[in-house]
Amino acid sequence: MSITAPRGTADILPSDILKWKYIEGKISEICDKFGFEEIRTPIFENTELFERGVGDTTDVVQKEMYTFNDKGGRSITLRPEGTACVARAFLEHNIYSKPLPAKLFYLISCYRYEKPQAGRLREFHQFGAECFGSQSPAVDGEIITLAHTVLTELGIDDVTLNINSIGCPECRKKYNEALKDYFRPHIESGELCETCRGRFDKNPLRILDCKSPVCGKIAESAPVLLDYICDECADHFEKVKGYLDAVGINYVIDGTIVRGLDYYTKTVFEFKTSLGGAAGTVCGGGRYDGLIEELGGAPTPAIGFAMGIERIILALTDNGKMPDFESIPDVYVANIGDESDFYATVLVNKLRKAGLKAERDLCARSLKAQMKYANKIGAKYSIVIGEDEAKSNSAILKNMNIKTEISVSLENADDILKAVMEEK
Ligand code: HAM
Repeated sequence: MSITAPRGTADILPSDILKWKYIEGKISEICDKFGFEEIRTPIFENTELFERGVGDTTDVVQKEMYTFNDKGGRSITLRPEGTACVARAFLEHNIYSKPLPAKLFYLISCYRYEKPQAGRLREFHQFGAECFGSQSPAVDGEIITLAHTVLTELGIDDVTLNINSIGCPECRKKYNEALKDYFRPHIESGELCETCRGRFDKNPLRILDCKSPVCGKIAESAPVLLDYICDECADHFEKVKGYLDAVGINYVIDGTIVRGLDYYTKTVFEFKTSLGGAAGTVCGGGRYDGLIEELGGAPTPAIGFAMGIERIILALTDNGKMPDFESIPDVYVANIGDESDFYATVLVNKLRKAGLKAERDLCARSLKAQMKYANKIGAKYSIVIGEDEAKSNSAILKNMNIKTEISVSLENADDILKAVMEEK
């Protein structure tokens, strides 16, 4: 039996690569305009980073991480997300000593052991942006605007932005008590799942995003954090809404958003779309003012988001906004005989240097088979090099679509370049 790719992973084939490059290019362009610089971190990190950063009562850490011991006996984890990695790099490279805020973005693969379905993979890709060093609600506005700009400029125009505030550790204390009072009878009756029973004492908030349907149903009527936030957090949230109103980004306040990772404080948000079948949430993010301190740094407010590239592709394909891309050669150089064989090699390289996409026969095919191949790959022009052409340094350039023919010099690429450019 032949070996297939592991469950929940997908090859990105040449026919799709141009779509990925288009999306990544657009993202980089928009990030540049917003003053965000790219950062690349390793695919794997020490497991402790995610246990401390993402939180050891989250589904991601408890159930979904690809963790193994390396040959030196260290516990290593394939990154399930990018925020903890970028926060670690921010500390490790003293980025905090440069002018703040530090504005960073990344395009990465992530790994989570989840149940694969449309838009949910075990290896998936994220575009993320993080901003460190400012607690101003203006940054919340800026970050949400960046996500909104990327989604709308790509063509996902039916997104709904849901926002919430999950307060600071102070508001959380009061709220945790209320949550415990609410969940206690369900613990005593044994309705909540085993994981949630463990979460009850350590972090009851996590029960709210348990994927078990029974826990989910119970959580629906739980108290909402927004009703418990302190004056400072409420004021921050009001100002964030003000920035969104100012730039005309519509939002829905959704008190049920708690996000699945432990580091969040104050503003949290999600962009949802009905496009792309099961794609659902294309982007999620929020403030995480305590993470840098949790990882051993000085208190540093921060906020960011990440969006799933596969989900973006599903949505754009669904609404017909994914442009058509094709990679077709400008010129196919066919040859007959040994002498013209080397000549063809020199010629294609001359054409490539001049900026054209040029190909030649690499399978020792007959002339008829070479022309058939040139047609199959959609070459715009062809040139046949025989003994005469090699001697005279001139040949016929044939337009493969409209079948016109012109005589061109092969001394340099000028004639050929001119003909191709005129058509482009
Ligand atoms: P997250 O909500 O876990 O947040 O993931 C962000 C986005 O990644 C999701 O909205 C979704 O589009 C995509 N995604 C997540 N899991 C999968 C999967 N299994 N398959 C395909 N796509 C997926 C974070 O990761 C945070 N680090 C976001 C953040 C950055 N918060 C602050 N800064």
